[in-house]
Amino acid sequence: TPVAAVIPAAGRGVRLGPGAPKALRALNGTPMLIHAVRALAASRRVSLVIVVAPSDGTEEVKSLLDAHALPERTDFLVVPGGDTRQESVKRGLDALPPEYGVVLVHDAARPLVPVDTVDAVIEAVGAGAPAVVPALPLADTVKEVEPAAEAGAPEPVVATPERARLRAVQTPQGFDRTTLVRAHETVTDDVTDDASMVEQLGLPVVTVPGHEEAFKVTRPLDLVLAEAVLARRRL
Ligand code: C5P
Repeated sequence: TPVAAVIPAAGRGVRLGPGAPKALRALNGTPMLIHAVRALAASRRVSLVIVVAPSDGTEEVKSLLDAHALPERTDFLVVPGGDTRQESVKRGLDALPPEYGVVLVHDAARPLVPVDTVDAVIEAVGAGAPAVVPALPLADTVKEVEPAAEAGAPEPVVATPERARLRAVQTPQGFDRTTLVRAHETVTDDVTDDASMVEQLGLPVVTVPGHEEAFKVTRPLDLVLAEAVLARRRL
């Protein structure tokens, strides 16, 4: 069954500091979004990429895609995003042609995901999992706290989940299309990833190994790391 990728790229990227929407900022001279689009289109299994652009930036994103070399075997669509990541993904799904039975959802903010990770996710969905997430063990110990009312104030620690059982999850997350569409129609809570909506439906979500280069570019230091990874790849 044909595989499509939806790339939500409509966030402002406030935590990265002032400037253009995050996905349009450059890494080594090329917009982060273009890196992300190339990373997904690098998989021979992905035949359509739907970019969800900032709602006032669809024309700009279309010209960016036209201006950069992209694989000819891949189709590209650009649709306007919404106020939340969840809404942006939903708009991407609404634009999905009927023949695509498998959907990947990939953050534009993870521009350096290796193609092997993309293919591993697709393969696991093909093997029958309704939802698949790339996951890595944690280096840090994680504490649950009672969040303080004001930023910077001390916060009481509530619990320490056993680190060996925790995973940091990345994108692309892969889905059987019907499952993801139903999740978006059913779940209205705020979520930070798509797989958690499938969990709320009571359906199984499985992991495949993630990759450290699939990290999310969120804060200024992440830009430094991303450019260092790109420089290392050119060697
Ligand atoms: O904010 P966060 O880092 O979780 O955003 C993850 C991805 O979701 C980013 O690629 C961002 O552009 C996208 N996003 C979106 N629409 C929003 C908010 C975030 O497409 N309203």
